Amino acid sequence: MIEILGPAEIEKMRASGLLAAACLRMASREIKPGLSTERLDKLCAEYVRDHGGISAPLNYKGFPKSICTSINEVVCHGIPTKKQVLKEGDIVNVDVTTILAGYHGDTSRTFKVGKVSAEADLVTDVAEKCMYLGIEQVRPGGRVRDIGAAIEDHAHASGFSVVRDYCGHGIHRVFHAEPQIPHYRFRGANPRFKPGMTFTVEPMINVGNWRVKLLGDGWTVKTTDGKLSAQFEHTLLVTEDGHEILTSWDNLEGSKYE
Ligand code: MF3
Ligand code: CO
Ligand code: CO
Repeated sequence: MIEILGPAEIEKMRASGLLAAACLRMASREIKPGLSTERLDKLCAEYVRDHGGISAPLNYKGFPKSICTSINEVVCHGIPTKKQVLKEGDIVNVDVTTILAGYHGDTSRTFKVGKVSAEADLVTDVAEKCMYLGIEQVRPGGRVRDIGAAIEDHAHASGFSVVRDYCGHGIHRVFHAEPQIPHYRFRGANPRFKPGMTFTVEPMINVGNWRVKLLGDGWTVKTTDGKLSAQFEHTLLVTEDGHEILTSWDNLEGSKYE
């Protein structure tokens, strides 16, 4: 069942989305060569806690840290560690999920560390564009498959592929809820968007093929061909006439996080 949120719940989703956005913007200001992902994890954990929230990843199905940090050929769910130090030329996805007053906000960006290769630059920019092209499809009357179709078309036109094993998801009191939001054309249930639905769009775009493997730590997902992958994520609300990006940095202007 896909939940339709009422006005009070929507306000809580806005507040949690804003905190997740503020945390990710804080993280973006810290990213530079020499920063360990464990240090970044600590900064984000403190930021969320200091603003009255909870970091959803910590202890989620046993995940050991407060954010995910996924570098270069890591597709998603990378675990911050002390040994993992950012270096010039890396691309790193930082994925922040907050819980505030019981509701989740989930957002990520891929950051370029210093000067990066042309390929790293392109896959990062294409992943961001794919996310926004998917988001543009979200309005009442549209359907979930419209998102994947728009993303797949742009990724393929750019010579890249779309990860199939991980999808966007409904999100509210539950971190990963219905509906599933594939970032490619799929068969099967294709629900219509209705005002009050909340879900993420979070395409993972690979330079090589779409195949991925799970590492022995049970979390880290890498490309099987060792080529680069980039991801962006926002949490969305379906409105009467379109959508609202609950994790947009634009919402930070004039907010308590300014
Ligand atoms: N934030 C991720 C997502 O976009 C999920 C991370 S789950 C974790 O859905 F346990 F790895 F943190
Ligand atoms: Co998500
Ligand atoms: Co996320």
